[in-house]
Amino acid sequence: MSAAANLYLFWQILHEIAIMIKTAIAVAILAFTIGLCCSNCDTEFNLTFYPAGNRVLNNHVLVMKTVSSAVICGRDCFMDPQCASFNYDAGSHLCELNDATRSDSPYDLVNKQGSVYFDGNGETSLFSIPNHETYTSCQMLLGAGYSDNGIYTINPSGMAEGLQVYCDMETDGRGWIVFQRRQDGSVDFYRNWTEYQSGFGDLSGEFWLGNEALRILTETGQWQLRVDLGDWEGNTAWAEYGEFSITGDKYTIHVGSYYYESTAGNTLLGESGDHHFSTKDQQNNNLQVSFAQKLKGAWWFTDPTNSHLNGMYQMSSTVNNPDEGIFWFYWKEYHYSLKQCSMKMREVK
Ligand SMILES: *[C@@H]1O[C@H](CO)[C@@H](O)[C@H](O)[C@H]1NC(C)=O
Ligand SMILES: *[C@@H]1O[C@H](CO)[C@@H](O)[C@H](O)[C@H]1NC(C)=O
Repeated sequence: MSAAANLYLFWQILHEIAIMIKTAIAVAILAFTIGLCCSNCDTEFNLTFYPAGNRVLNNHVLVMKTVSSAVICGRDCFMDPQCASFNYDAGSHLCELNDATRSDSPYDLVNKQGSVYFDGNGETSLFSIPNHETYTSCQMLLGAGYSDNGIYTINPSGMAEGLQVYCDMETDGRGWIVFQRRQDGSVDFYRNWTEYQSGFGDLSGEFWLGNEALRILTETGQWQLRVDLGDWEGNTAWAEYGEFSITGDKYTIHVGSYYYESTAGNTLLGESGDHHFSTKDQQNNNLQVSFAQKLKGAWWFTDPTNSHLNGMYQMSSTVNNPDEGIFWFYWKEYHYSLKQCSMKMREVK
């Protein structure tokens, strides 16, 4: 067999198997066979890969690339002598070739929504996690075995098309929907009303999930709010509140109890004011000046404003102009701009 150029590849999706589990959960799995036909020899090799839906094998990636389908990813695995299995994510088209299989490394096979793990072992299909249309929260995903932090689609009531969210599956009790994150200044947060309404940024980096999503999510049930903060010296602090909701067309924030164990201090809101959301182009408070414009951000500004996590990202704790930073007054005062912060919410069951 001289060169790859002499090889003619042909691909077939052999069959699609739909397994009906008795609980009426349907799992559609796909097995495909890769046949490699060699023009100057008579041998024909077959390799069948068996899929495990909503699964990924971690920690064994040899090669990572973007390809158009699982079939191409399977071909690339077949062509690579070191490849023992692969992961394919239909959403991101990410193809990961692995140097081990789930039987070599059982604890590295974890749940991942939208990802499919493939190897040549016929029993692998038994490791599929069923598609479930009605995960309405990160907590529910956690309950179904999705224990990795990351981006998931949830289908809360009132959102027919579903909502992509980043789930924090680690912090305090786990199962948080992260709705804001700052960490490197890569995303501009000095934005207008419609942008804050619909959300912006990158769920795996810096982002604001969107005021409309916050309003719809907190319309039903009881929610907790958690804020995680980090300074430039590696210290962290957090604050948690009960009875969190966002209501009305001014996206008014409500929080109830402040959890006394919190380490960051109770400075989410000032004491007076309506706690409506304001942006540079829509001021929904009675303050003399536009705080959104003065502080170059957007927030539930009050007088005084004791926190502003959507402020200007600074590359150190030092603010160039007074108040133009990311601050949480009771932890670090106004003139210390935080290195990182995130805001997250979780339904209280
Ligand atoms: C490969 O698969 C084809 C089609 O399923 C089959 O006809 C052929 O005999 C197989 N070849 C080998 C070597 O298993
Ligand atoms: C808000 O910002 C976006 C993006 O810059 C822009 O397309 C849009 O026109 C702005 N909306 C208003 C009302 O200014």
